[in-house]
Amino acid sequence: MKLKLIALTVAAFSAACTAKPTSVEDVYAENCASCHGKQLQGGMGPSLIDDEWKGGSSATDIAKSISDGNPQMGMPAWKHALSDELIQGLAIYIQEQKGNQQPQQVTQKGEVLQSQDYAYSLKTVGEFDEEIWGLSFLPNGDSLITEKAGDVWLLKSTGEKYKIADTPKIWLNGQGGLLDVLVHPEYPKKLWIYLTFAENTGAKQDGKNAGMTTLVRGQIINNKWVNQQVIYRAPHDLHIASGAHFGSRIVIRDGYVYFSIGDRGRMHMAQDLSKANGKIHRLTEDGKIPSDNPFINTKDALQTIWSYGHRNPQGLALHPVTNEIWESEHGPRGGDEINLIEPSLNYGWPVITYGINYNGQPISDKTHQEGMQQPKHYYVPSIATAGMEFYRGKTFAKWQNNLLLASLAKQELRRLVVKDQQVISDELLVKDQGRIRDVAVSPAGEIFIAVREGSDNKVLQLVKVD
Ligand code: HEC
Repeated sequence: MKLKLIALTVAAFSAACTAKPTSVEDVYAENCASCHGKQLQGGMGPSLIDDEWKGGSSATDIAKSISDGNPQMGMPAWKHALSDELIQGLAIYIQEQKGNQQPQQVTQKGEVLQSQDYAYSLKTVGEFDEEIWGLSFLPNGDSLITEKAGDVWLLKSTGEKYKIADTPKIWLNGQGGLLDVLVHPEYPKKLWIYLTFAENTGAKQDGKNAGMTTLVRGQIINNKWVNQQVIYRAPHDLHIASGAHFGSRIVIRDGYVYFSIGDRGRMHMAQDLSKANGKIHRLTEDGKIPSDNPFINTKDALQTIWSYGHRNPQGLALHPVTNEIWESEHGPRGGDEINLIEPSLNYGWPVITYGINYNGQPISDKTHQEGMQQPKHYYVPSIATAGMEFYRGKTFAKWQNNLLLASLAKQELRRLVVKDQQVISDELLVKDQGRIRDVAVSPAGEIFIAVREGSDNKVLQLVKVD
Protein backbone atom coordinates (compact mmCIF):
# COMPACT_ATOMS: atom_id res chain seq x y z
CA MET A 1 0.00 0.00 0.00
CA LYS A 2 2.73 2.38 1.04
CA LEU A 3 4.79 1.57 -2.04
CA LYS A 4 1.87 2.28 -4.30
CA LEU A 5 1.30 5.65 -2.65
CA ILE A 6 4.91 6.64 -3.22
CA ALA A 7 4.74 5.58 -6.84
CA LEU A 8 1.62 7.67 -7.32
CA THR A 9 3.22 10.70 -5.71
CA VAL A 10 6.26 10.38 -7.97
CA ALA A 11 4.06 10.10 -11.02
CA ALA A 12 2.09 13.20 -10.01
CA PHE A 13 5.30 15.06 -9.29
CA SER A 14 6.92 14.23 -12.63
CA ALA A 15 3.68 15.12 -14.45
CA ALA A 16 3.70 18.53 -12.75
CA CYS A 17 7.37 19.04 -13.64
CA THR A 18 7.01 18.37 -17.34
CA ALA A 19 3.98 20.75 -17.24
CA LYS A 20 2.76 19.46 -20.57
CA PRO A 21 -0.34 21.38 -21.63
CA THR A 22 -3.51 19.34 -21.35
CA SER A 23 -4.34 18.26 -24.86
CA VAL A 24 -7.66 16.77 -25.83
CA GLU A 25 -5.83 13.71 -27.19
CA ASP A 26 -4.41 13.01 -23.73
CA VAL A 27 -7.74 13.62 -22.02
CA TYR A 28 -9.44 11.30 -24.50
CA ALA A 29 -6.79 8.57 -24.09
CA GLU A 30 -7.02 8.74 -20.30
CA ASN A 31 -10.75 9.02 -19.81
CA CYS A 32 -12.63 7.85 -22.87
CA ALA A 33 -10.57 5.34 -24.87
CA SER A 34 -11.29 2.50 -22.44
CA CYS A 35 -14.96 2.51 -23.46
CA HIS A 36 -15.01 4.18 -26.90
CA GLY A 37 -11.78 2.64 -28.25
CA LYS A 38 -8.38 4.18 -28.97
CA GLN A 39 -9.45 5.10 -32.50
CA LEU A 40 -12.95 6.10 -31.35
CA GLN A 41 -14.17 2.96 -33.08
CA GLY A 42 -16.32 1.86 -30.12
CA GLY A 43 -16.17 -0.94 -27.58
CA MET A 44 -18.15 -0.94 -24.38
CA GLY A 45 -19.43 2.47 -25.51
CA PRO A 46 -20.64 3.28 -29.04
CA SER A 47 -18.41 4.26 -31.95
CA LEU A 48 -17.93 8.03 -32.11
CA ILE A 49 -16.95 8.03 -35.79
CA ASP A 50 -19.84 6.17 -37.43
CA ASP A 51 -21.91 9.33 -37.78
CA GLU A 52 -24.75 7.89 -35.74
CA TRP A 53 -25.68 10.19 -32.93
CA LYS A 54 -28.20 9.56 -30.22
CA GLY A 55 -27.62 12.99 -28.72
CA GLY A 56 -27.10 15.06 -31.88
CA SER A 57 -24.09 15.69 -34.11
CA SER A 58 -23.21 19.38 -33.66
CA ALA A 59 -20.25 20.37 -31.49
CA THR A 60 -22.73 21.79 -28.98
CA ASP A 61 -24.77 18.56 -28.94
CA ILE A 62 -21.70 16.37 -28.51
CA ALA A 63 -20.40 18.63 -25.73
CA LYS A 64 -23.77 18.26 -23.98
CA SER A 65 -23.67 14.45 -24.32
CA ILE A 66 -20.22 14.44 -22.71
CA SER A 67 -21.14 16.95 -20.03
CA ASP A 68 -24.39 15.34 -18.88
CA GLY A 69 -23.53 11.74 -19.77
CA ASN A 70 -26.13 9.03 -19.42
CA PRO A 71 -25.06 7.19 -16.27
CA GLN A 72 -27.91 4.70 -16.48
CA MET A 73 -26.62 3.54 -19.87
CA GLY A 74 -23.00 3.51 -18.74
CA MET A 75 -21.84 6.96 -19.92
CA PRO A 76 -20.48 8.95 -17.01
CA ALA A 77 -21.28 12.69 -16.69
CA TRP A 78 -18.06 14.66 -17.12
CA LYS A 79 -19.18 18.14 -16.13
CA HIS A 80 -17.69 17.94 -12.64
CA ALA A 81 -14.46 16.23 -13.71
CA LEU A 82 -13.50 18.25 -16.81
CA SER A 83 -13.62 21.99 -17.56
CA ASP A 84 -16.18 23.36 -20.04
CA GLU A 85 -13.30 24.22 -22.36
CA LEU A 86 -11.97 20.66 -22.33
CA ILE A 87 -15.42 19.22 -22.95
CA GLN A 88 -15.92 21.58 -25.91
CA GLY A 89 -12.41 20.65 -27.09
CA LEU A 90 -13.27 16.93 -26.88
CA ALA A 91 -16.41 17.51 -28.96
CA ILE A 92 -14.32 19.21 -31.68
CA TYR A 93 -11.72 16.43 -31.46
CA ILE A 94 -14.45 13.79 -31.98
CA GLN A 95 -15.78 15.67 -35.03
CA GLU A 96 -12.27 16.03 -36.39
CA GLN A 97 -11.46 12.32 -36.02
CA LYS A 98 -14.74 11.36 -37.62
CA GLY A 99 -14.03 13.66 -40.62
CA ASN A 100 -10.47 12.37 -40.97
CA GLN A 101 -11.67 8.78 -41.14
CA GLN A 102 -14.21 9.47 -43.85
CA PRO A 103 -12.34 11.71 -46.31
CA GLN A 104 -14.20 12.80 -49.42
CA GLN A 105 -12.77 12.00 -52.84
CA VAL A 106 -13.40 13.29 -56.34
CA THR A 107 -14.46 10.69 -58.88
CA GLN A 108 -11.59 10.29 -61.32
CA LYS A 109 -11.14 8.35 -64.56
CA GLY A 110 -7.55 8.57 -65.74
CA GLU A 111 -6.79 12.28 -65.90
CA VAL A 112 -10.42 13.32 -65.94
CA LEU A 113 -12.15 14.52 -62.78
CA GLN A 114 -15.90 14.11 -62.63
CA SER A 115 -18.05 16.46 -60.57
CA GLN A 116 -21.82 16.57 -60.27
CA ASP A 117 -22.22 18.84 -63.34
CA TYR A 118 -18.99 18.71 -65.34
CA ALA A 119 -15.92 16.65 -66.19
CA TYR A 120 -12.57 18.42 -66.45
CA SER A 121 -8.85 17.83 -66.51
CA LEU A 122 -6.10 19.98 -65.03
CA LYS A 123 -3.70 21.71 -67.40
CA THR A 124 -0.51 23.47 -66.28
CA VAL A 125 -0.46 27.00 -67.69
CA GLY A 126 2.44 28.44 -65.69
CA GLU A 127 5.32 27.21 -63.54
CA PHE A 128 7.09 29.27 -60.88
CA ASP A 129 10.14 28.89 -58.64
CA GLU A 130 8.47 30.24 -55.53
CA GLU A 131 5.18 29.77 -53.74
CA ILE A 132 2.34 31.64 -55.42
CA TRP A 133 0.09 33.73 -53.18
CA GLY A 134 -2.26 35.70 -55.40
CA LEU A 135 -3.70 35.54 -58.89
CA SER A 136 -5.73 38.31 -60.55
CA PHE A 137 -6.86 38.65 -64.16
CA LEU A 138 -6.52 41.58 -66.53
CA PRO A 139 -9.44 42.11 -68.95
CA ASN A 140 -7.41 40.69 -71.89
CA GLY A 141 -6.95 37.30 -70.19
CA ASP A 142 -3.39 37.86 -69.00
CA SER A 143 -2.90 37.54 -65.26
CA LEU A 144 -0.79 39.00 -62.50
CA ILE A 145 0.75 36.59 -60.05
CA THR A 146 2.41 37.26 -56.70
CA GLU A 147 5.08 35.01 -55.28
CA LYS A 148 5.32 35.13 -51.49
CA ALA A 149 9.10 35.58 -51.81
CA GLY A 150 8.48 39.03 -53.30
CA ASP A 151 8.12 38.98 -57.08
CA VAL A 152 5.15 39.97 -59.21
CA TRP A 153 4.78 38.24 -62.59
CA LEU A 154 2.75 38.95 -65.68
CA LEU A 155 1.57 35.62 -67.08
CA LYS A 156 0.34 36.03 -70.66
CA SER A 157 -2.61 33.95 -71.77
CA THR A 158 -0.22 32.56 -74.39
CA GLY A 159 2.05 31.16 -71.66
CA GLU A 160 5.08 33.51 -71.61
CA LYS A 161 5.81 35.19 -68.32
CA TYR A 162 7.58 38.40 -67.39
CA LYS A 163 8.92 39.51 -64.04
CA ILE A 164 7.77 43.00 -63.02
CA ALA A 165 10.66 45.25 -62.03
CA ASP A 166 10.80 47.62 -59.04
CA THR A 167 8.02 46.04 -56.98
CA PRO A 168 7.88 47.04 -53.27
CA LYS A 169 10.31 45.71 -50.70
CA ILE A 170 8.58 43.11 -48.57
CA TRP A 171 9.33 41.49 -45.20
CA LEU A 172 9.85 37.79 -45.81
CA ASN A 173 9.25 36.46 -42.32
CA GLY A 174 7.39 33.25 -41.46
CA GLN A 175 3.97 33.45 -43.09
CA GLY A 176 4.74 37.01 -44.18
CA GLY A 177 5.88 38.09 -47.60
CA LEU A 178 4.22 39.40 -50.72
CA LEU A 179 0.55 38.45 -50.42
CA ASP A 180 -2.44 39.42 -52.55
CA VAL A 181 -2.73 41.17 -55.90
CA LEU A 182 -5.90 42.76 -57.29
CA VAL A 183 -6.39 44.37 -60.68
CA HIS A 184 -8.79 47.30 -60.37
CA PRO A 185 -12.24 46.12 -61.56
CA GLU A 186 -12.40 49.08 -63.98
CA TYR A 187 -8.98 48.40 -65.51
CA PRO A 188 -7.74 49.83 -67.89
CA LYS A 189 -9.93 52.90 -67.35
CA LYS A 190 -8.31 52.90 -63.94
CA LEU A 191 -4.81 51.49 -64.33
CA TRP A 192 -4.34 50.65 -60.66
CA ILE A 193 -3.05 47.36 -59.32
CA TYR A 194 -3.34 46.78 -55.55
CA LEU A 195 -0.88 44.69 -53.53
CA THR A 196 -0.75 43.61 -49.89
CA PHE A 197 2.43 42.44 -48.21
CA ALA A 198 4.17 42.02 -44.87
CA GLU A 199 6.35 45.03 -44.22
CA ASN A 200 8.98 46.06 -41.68
CA THR A 201 9.83 49.74 -41.86
CA GLY A 202 12.23 49.72 -38.92
CA ALA A 203 9.75 49.07 -36.10
CA LYS A 204 10.97 46.97 -33.18
CA GLN A 205 9.15 45.15 -30.42
CA ASP A 206 11.21 43.86 -27.47
CA GLY A 207 14.33 44.33 -29.58
CA LYS A 208 13.00 42.22 -32.45
CA ASN A 209 11.98 43.38 -35.91
CA ALA A 210 8.27 44.05 -36.02
CA GLY A 211 5.94 44.49 -38.95
CA MET A 212 2.39 44.58 -40.23
CA THR A 213 0.41 44.07 -43.43
CA THR A 214 0.60 47.05 -45.80
CA LEU A 215 -1.64 47.89 -48.77
CA VAL A 216 -0.29 49.84 -51.75
CA ARG A 217 -1.41 50.55 -55.29
CA GLY A 218 0.69 51.21 -58.33
CA GLN A 219 0.70 50.82 -62.09
CA ILE A 220 2.53 48.41 -64.34
CA ILE A 221 3.97 50.07 -67.40
CA ASN A 222 6.44 48.24 -69.65
CA ASN A 223 6.66 45.48 -67.03
CA LYS A 224 7.75 47.97 -64.40
CA TRP A 225 5.96 48.90 -61.15
CA VAL A 226 5.52 52.69 -61.16
CA ASN A 227 3.52 55.50 -59.50
CA GLN A 228 3.18 53.63 -56.21
CA GLN A 229 0.94 55.10 -53.51
CA VAL A 230 0.65 53.75 -49.98
CA ILE A 231 -3.02 53.13 -49.22
CA TYR A 232 -2.63 51.68 -45.71
CA ARG A 233 0.44 51.41 -43.52
CA ALA A 234 -0.05 50.92 -39.77
CA PRO A 235 1.92 53.21 -37.45
CA HIS A 236 4.95 51.61 -35.81
CA ASP A 237 3.30 51.18 -32.41
CA LEU A 238 0.86 48.71 -34.00
CA HIS A 239 3.60 46.59 -35.60
CA ILE A 240 4.16 43.17 -34.09
CA ALA A 241 7.26 40.97 -33.86
CA SER A 242 5.63 37.80 -35.15
CA GLY A 243 5.77 35.84 -38.37
CA ALA A 244 2.15 34.66 -38.11
CA HIS A 245 -1.22 35.54 -39.66
CA PHE A 246 -0.74 38.54 -41.94
CA GLY A 247 -3.96 37.73 -43.89
CA SER A 248 -4.41 38.95 -46.60
CA ARG A 249 -6.83 39.56 -49.44
CA ILE A 250 -8.19 42.63 -51.19
CA VAL A 251 -11.54 43.48 -52.80
CA ILE A 252 -12.82 46.70 -54.35
CA ARG A 253 -16.51 47.57 -54.15
CA ASP A 254 -18.22 50.80 -55.20
CA GLY A 255 -15.11 52.94 -54.94
CA TYR A 256 -13.82 51.51 -51.66
CA VAL A 257 -11.01 49.07 -51.05
CA TYR A 258 -11.33 46.39 -48.36
CA PHE A 259 -8.46 44.27 -47.13
CA SER A 260 -7.77 41.83 -44.33
CA ILE A 261 -5.07 41.55 -41.68
CA GLY A 262 -4.84 38.36 -39.61
CA ASP A 263 -4.50 38.39 -35.84
CA ARG A 264 -0.67 38.20 -36.14
CA GLY A 265 -0.66 35.34 -33.63
CA ARG A 266 -1.99 37.64 -30.89
CA MET A 267 -5.50 36.28 -30.81
CA HIS A 268 -7.01 38.53 -28.16
CA MET A 269 -6.08 41.64 -30.14
CA ALA A 270 -8.69 40.57 -32.74
CA GLN A 271 -11.29 41.86 -30.22
CA ASP A 272 -9.43 45.14 -29.57
CA LEU A 273 -10.57 48.00 -31.82
CA SER A 274 -7.40 49.98 -31.12
CA LYS A 275 -5.30 47.32 -32.89
CA ALA A 276 -4.98 46.80 -36.64
CA ASN A 277 -4.68 43.00 -36.52
CA GLY A 278 -7.59 40.57 -36.71
CA LYS A 279 -9.62 43.07 -38.77
CA ILE A 280 -11.01 43.87 -42.18
CA HIS A 281 -10.27 47.48 -43.05
CA ARG A 282 -12.01 49.82 -45.50
CA LEU A 283 -10.52 52.84 -47.24
CA THR A 284 -11.31 54.90 -50.28
CA GLU A 285 -9.50 53.65 -53.37
CA ASP A 286 -6.85 56.33 -52.89
CA GLY A 287 -6.33 55.65 -49.18
CA LYS A 288 -8.58 58.10 -47.34
CA ILE A 289 -10.77 57.19 -44.39
CA PRO A 290 -14.41 57.06 -45.52
CA SER A 291 -16.65 59.25 -43.37
CA ASP A 292 -19.23 56.45 -43.03
CA ASN A 293 -16.85 53.83 -41.61
CA PRO A 294 -18.53 52.18 -38.61
CA PHE A 295 -16.03 53.10 -35.88
CA ILE A 296 -15.15 56.58 -37.12
CA ASN A 297 -16.48 58.17 -33.92
CA THR A 298 -15.67 55.37 -31.48
CA LYS A 299 -13.14 56.41 -28.86
CA ASP A 300 -9.75 54.68 -29.26
CA ALA A 301 -10.92 52.66 -32.27
CA LEU A 302 -8.98 52.67 -35.52
CA GLN A 303 -11.10 54.54 -38.06
CA THR A 304 -10.26 52.16 -40.90
CA ILE A 305 -11.91 49.12 -39.25
CA TRP A 306 -14.93 47.63 -41.06
CA SER A 307 -15.31 44.36 -39.11
CA TYR A 308 -13.37 42.56 -36.37
CA GLY A 309 -12.84 39.35 -34.42
CA HIS A 310 -11.06 37.65 -37.33
CA ARG A 311 -8.30 35.05 -37.04
CA ASN A 312 -6.58 34.87 -40.42
CA PRO A 313 -8.74 35.91 -43.37
CA GLN A 314 -7.07 34.53 -46.49
CA GLY A 315 -10.06 34.85 -48.78
CA LEU A 316 -12.29 37.79 -49.73
CA ALA A 317 -14.75 37.72 -52.61
CA LEU A 318 -17.50 39.92 -53.95
CA HIS A 319 -20.82 38.29 -54.80
CA PRO A 320 -21.49 39.14 -58.48
CA VAL A 321 -25.22 39.76 -57.96
CA THR A 322 -25.74 40.91 -54.38
CA ASN A 323 -22.39 42.71 -54.08
CA GLU A 324 -21.92 41.17 -50.63
CA ILE A 325 -18.41 40.61 -49.33
CA TRP A 326 -17.73 37.01 -48.36
CA GLU A 327 -14.69 36.00 -46.38
CA SER A 328 -12.82 32.78 -45.67
CA GLU A 329 -10.99 32.58 -42.42
CA HIS A 330 -8.17 30.13 -41.86
CA GLY A 331 -9.02 28.54 -38.52
CA PRO A 332 -6.91 26.82 -35.89
CA ARG A 333 -7.36 22.99 -35.67
CA GLY A 334 -10.96 22.82 -36.82
CA GLY A 335 -13.02 25.94 -37.20
CA ASP A 336 -12.16 27.27 -40.67
CA GLU A 337 -14.97 29.70 -41.39
CA ILE A 338 -16.89 31.18 -44.29
CA ASN A 339 -18.41 34.51 -43.25
CA LEU A 340 -20.62 37.17 -44.78
CA ILE A 341 -18.93 40.44 -43.86
CA GLU A 342 -21.01 43.40 -42.73
CA PRO A 343 -19.90 46.66 -41.20
CA SER A 344 -19.18 46.95 -37.47
CA LEU A 345 -19.83 43.28 -36.75
CA ASN A 346 -17.75 41.09 -34.47
CA TYR A 347 -16.92 37.66 -35.93
CA GLY A 348 -16.01 36.29 -32.53
CA TRP A 349 -12.41 35.08 -32.63
CA PRO A 350 -11.12 33.89 -30.16
CA VAL A 351 -14.12 34.18 -27.82
CA ILE A 352 -16.19 31.80 -29.91
CA THR A 353 -14.73 29.20 -32.26
CA TYR A 354 -15.33 25.74 -33.71
CA GLY A 355 -11.63 25.02 -33.36
CA ILE A 356 -8.97 23.94 -30.88
CA ASN A 357 -5.26 24.76 -30.76
CA TYR A 358 -2.84 22.85 -33.00
CA ASN A 359 -1.35 21.23 -29.87
CA GLY A 360 -4.77 19.94 -28.84
CA GLN A 361 -5.38 22.47 -26.08
CA PRO A 362 -8.87 23.88 -26.09
CA ILE A 363 -9.39 27.57 -27.00
CA SER A 364 -12.87 28.33 -25.79
CA ASP A 365 -15.89 26.62 -24.27
CA LYS A 366 -18.18 28.51 -26.66
CA THR A 367 -19.23 28.32 -30.27
CA HIS A 368 -21.96 30.98 -29.89
CA GLN A 369 -22.33 34.23 -28.07
CA GLU A 370 -24.75 37.09 -28.35
CA GLY A 371 -23.31 40.02 -30.26
CA MET A 372 -20.97 37.74 -32.23
CA GLN A 373 -21.60 36.46 -35.73
CA GLN A 374 -21.95 32.80 -36.59
CA PRO A 375 -20.09 31.62 -39.67
CA LYS A 376 -22.23 30.77 -42.70
CA HIS A 377 -20.28 27.55 -43.02
CA TYR A 378 -17.36 25.97 -41.17
CA TYR A 379 -14.98 23.03 -41.45
CA VAL A 380 -14.09 20.46 -38.77
CA PRO A 381 -11.60 18.92 -39.47
CA SER A 382 -9.85 21.92 -40.99
CA ILE A 383 -9.29 22.05 -44.69
CA ALA A 384 -7.17 25.22 -44.22
CA THR A 385 -9.23 27.69 -46.23
CA ALA A 386 -7.44 30.18 -48.48
CA GLY A 387 -8.42 32.24 -51.55
CA MET A 388 -11.90 32.27 -53.02
CA GLU A 389 -13.92 33.77 -55.84
CA PHE A 390 -17.48 33.61 -57.12
CA TYR A 391 -17.85 31.96 -60.50
CA ARG A 392 -19.33 33.85 -63.43
CA GLY A 393 -19.01 32.84 -67.07
CA LYS A 394 -20.19 30.48 -69.77
CA THR A 395 -17.81 27.53 -69.57
CA PHE A 396 -19.23 26.21 -66.29
CA ALA A 397 -22.61 27.90 -66.69
CA LYS A 398 -24.37 25.79 -64.07
CA TRP A 399 -21.97 27.13 -61.47
CA GLN A 400 -23.08 30.75 -61.92
CA ASN A 401 -22.51 32.74 -58.72
CA ASN A 402 -21.22 29.69 -56.85
CA LEU A 403 -18.35 30.32 -54.48
CA LEU A 404 -15.08 28.58 -55.40
CA LEU A 405 -12.91 27.99 -52.34
CA ALA A 406 -9.25 26.92 -52.14
CA SER A 407 -7.74 24.86 -49.33
CA LEU A 408 -4.13 24.32 -48.31
CA ALA A 409 -3.69 21.41 -45.88
CA LYS A 410 -6.45 19.22 -47.31
CA GLN A 411 -5.50 20.21 -50.88
CA GLU A 412 -9.00 20.91 -52.09
CA LEU A 413 -10.97 23.12 -54.40
CA ARG A 414 -14.60 23.33 -53.30
CA ARG A 415 -17.77 24.75 -54.81
CA LEU A 416 -20.24 26.27 -52.38
CA VAL A 417 -23.75 27.11 -53.50
CA VAL A 418 -24.84 30.32 -51.81
CA LYS A 419 -28.53 31.20 -51.71
CA ASP A 420 -30.24 33.94 -49.71
CA GLN A 421 -27.06 34.51 -47.70
CA GLN A 422 -26.76 30.83 -46.76
CA VAL A 423 -24.40 28.10 -47.93
CA ILE A 424 -26.78 25.39 -49.08
CA SER A 425 -24.32 22.88 -50.54
CA ASP A 426 -20.62 22.17 -50.75
CA GLU A 427 -19.02 19.98 -53.42
CA LEU A 428 -15.41 18.86 -53.74
CA LEU A 429 -13.99 19.66 -57.23
CA VAL A 430 -10.25 18.99 -56.91
CA LYS A 431 -8.40 16.89 -54.32
CA ASP A 432 -4.75 16.04 -53.56
CA GLN A 433 -3.11 17.97 -56.40
CA GLY A 434 -1.10 20.15 -53.99
CA ARG A 435 -1.86 22.96 -51.59
CA ILE A 436 -4.18 25.46 -53.25
CA ARG A 437 -3.55 29.05 -52.17
CA ASP A 438 -5.79 30.91 -54.57
CA VAL A 439 -8.47 30.49 -57.19
CA ALA A 440 -9.43 32.98 -59.91
CA VAL A 441 -11.93 33.12 -62.76
CA SER A 442 -10.71 34.62 -66.04
CA PRO A 443 -12.80 37.13 -68.01
CA ALA A 444 -13.63 34.25 -70.38
CA GLY A 445 -15.06 32.19 -67.51
CA GLU A 446 -12.18 29.74 -67.13
CA ILE A 447 -11.12 28.60 -63.65
CA PHE A 448 -7.49 28.74 -62.52
CA ILE A 449 -5.89 27.59 -59.27
CA ALA A 450 -2.48 28.32 -57.75
CA VAL A 451 -1.01 25.11 -56.33
CA ARG A 452 2.14 24.07 -54.55
CA GLU A 453 3.11 20.42 -54.51
CA GLY A 454 6.39 19.77 -52.75
CA SER A 455 8.51 22.58 -54.18
CA ASP A 456 6.64 22.75 -57.50
CA ASN A 457 4.55 25.87 -57.92
CA LYS A 458 2.02 25.96 -60.71
CA VAL A 459 -1.03 27.65 -62.10
CA LEU A 460 -3.49 25.01 -63.27
CA GLN A 461 -6.57 25.47 -65.40
CA LEU A 462 -9.70 23.34 -65.11
CA VAL A 463 -10.24 22.39 -68.73
CA LYS A 464 -13.79 21.20 -69.35
CA VAL A 465 -14.09 17.81 -71.04
CA ASP A 466 -17.27 17.16 -73.02
C1 HEC B 1 -17.46 3.61 -18.78
C2 HEC B 1 -17.56 3.69 -20.22
C3 HEC B 1 -17.52 5.07 -20.84
C4 HEC B 1 -16.59 6.04 -20.66
C5 HEC B 1 -15.38 6.03 -19.77
C6 HEC B 1 -16.98 7.11 -21.56
N1 HEC B 1 -18.10 6.79 -22.23
FE1 HEC B 1 -19.04 7.95 -23.59
N2 HEC B 1 -20.56 6.61 -23.70
C7 HEC B 1 -20.56 5.38 -23.07
C8 HEC B 1 -21.81 4.71 -23.38
C9 HEC B 1 -22.20 3.34 -22.91
C10 HEC B 1 -22.53 5.60 -24.18
C11 HEC B 1 -23.94 5.39 -24.75
C12 HEC B 1 -24.92 5.96 -23.78
C13 HEC B 1 -26.35 5.87 -24.25
O1 HEC B 1 -26.72 4.85 -24.84
O2 HEC B 1 -27.08 6.86 -24.03
C14 HEC B 1 -21.71 6.76 -24.37
C15 HEC B 1 -22.08 7.87 -25.11
C16 HEC B 1 -21.22 8.90 -25.45
C17 HEC B 1 -21.54 9.95 -26.36
C18 HEC B 1 -22.86 10.15 -27.08
C19 HEC B 1 -22.89 9.42 -28.39
C20 HEC B 1 -24.17 9.63 -29.18
O3 HEC B 1 -24.57 8.71 -29.90
O4 HEC B 1 -24.78 10.72 -29.07
C21 HEC B 1 -20.44 10.73 -26.47
C22 HEC B 1 -20.26 11.95 -27.35
C23 HEC B 1 -19.44 10.17 -25.60
N3 HEC B 1 -19.96 9.06 -24.99
C24 HEC B 1 -18.17 10.69 -25.42
C25 HEC B 1 -17.34 10.30 -24.39
C26 HEC B 1 -16.14 10.99 -24.01
C27 HEC B 1 -15.58 12.22 -24.73
C28 HEC B 1 -15.62 10.35 -22.95
C29 HEC B 1 -14.40 10.71 -22.16
C30 HEC B 1 -14.39 12.00 -21.55
C31 HEC B 1 -16.48 9.20 -22.69
N4 HEC B 1 -17.51 9.24 -23.56
C32 HEC B 1 -16.25 8.29 -21.69
C33 HEC B 1 -19.57 4.85 -22.29
C34 HEC B 1 -18.47 5.55 -21.82
